[in-house]
Amino acid sequence: MNAQNSNPDGAATTARTPDPLYGGSADRRITVRDLAAAKARGEKWPMLTSYDALTARVFDEAGIPVLLVGDSAGMVVLGNESTVPVTMDELLMLTRAVVRGAKRPLVIADMPFGSFQGSDEAAVDNAVRFVKEAGADAVKLEGAGPTLSRVQAIVGAGVPVMGHVGLTPQSATMLGGFKAQGRTAEKAERLYEDALALEAAGCFAIVLEAVPAPVAARVTEALQVPTIGIGAGADCDGQVLVWHDLLGLYAGKAPRFVKRYADLAGEARRAIEAYVDDVREGRFPEEQHTYAIPDEELAAFEARLPAHRAQAEHQ
Ligand code: KIV
Repeated sequence: MNAQNSNPDGAATTARTPDPLYGGSADRRITVRDLAAAKARGEKWPMLTSYDALTARVFDEAGIPVLLVGDSAGMVVLGNESTVPVTMDELLMLTRAVVRGAKRPLVIADMPFGSFQGSDEAAVDNAVRFVKEAGADAVKLEGAGPTLSRVQAIVGAGVPVMGHVGLTPQSATMLGGFKAQGRTAEKAERLYEDALALEAAGCFAIVLEAVPAPVAARVTEALQVPTIGIGAGADCDGQVLVWHDLLGLYAGKAPRFVKRYADLAGEARRAIEAYVDDVREGRFPEEQHTYAIPDEELAAFEARLPAHRAQAEHQ
């Protein structure tokens, strides 16, 4: 999406061409209809997680059309061991921040574990909170089966829903851990049927996580709505990654499906170590980092200090 141009001095500059998802107009928020139209045109698009206003702005400026305030925030932002403990209140606060920072991307809030499992009514109430209190454009729910009636109820209340099948981290224990899903004919068929059922229930898009690429390709072909892959191969309509994985800001080993585009953790560590050394050795702050006071004001100030007065009285 970047084009090399020359400025009047002949120097190369990089100009962004308008994202085709915006239909050439970059000054309005993306809608779920834009995503449907992109699928019809065969266009692929990237989605990224975001949990605060600053990254939302940077990702927006870099051309990301869809931001997910994932329940992964519970791990990468709040330090929990899994996505299970993160609460509605925590995700509402983070979603508000992302909505403030992102002007153009569609913002999707992930419904945390416990916020939709109880009943259709609870699911609708919590989905509405994300839209009304945080300004989200849509919500995402994990799973199929009992989740189908939740999807119907939320869509019926006027809130667009993104589905999520394959590896669904909120139920990782039931799935036997963080493993790829749909790796036998029977399980692949089940996943395929679940995705079709979510589409029929009203989902505008479906995340396929940790699914063999050919299985995800068949699901993508069969659905009218876009699929968004994470560890599901190149044939999905969209791709999503957790930004901490993409930019190398995590501890430990990344999953197989992550492509790391930067080493922010290493960069940050090197910069902080330099700061620590500079402070210890007296190299920071320098003159340029300090504020001046006129000489006469400084002299008058020093004349008011007790030590100075005592000295003057003694003389
Ligand atoms: O919570 C999350 O970040 C997600 C994506 C990985 C799809 O659900």
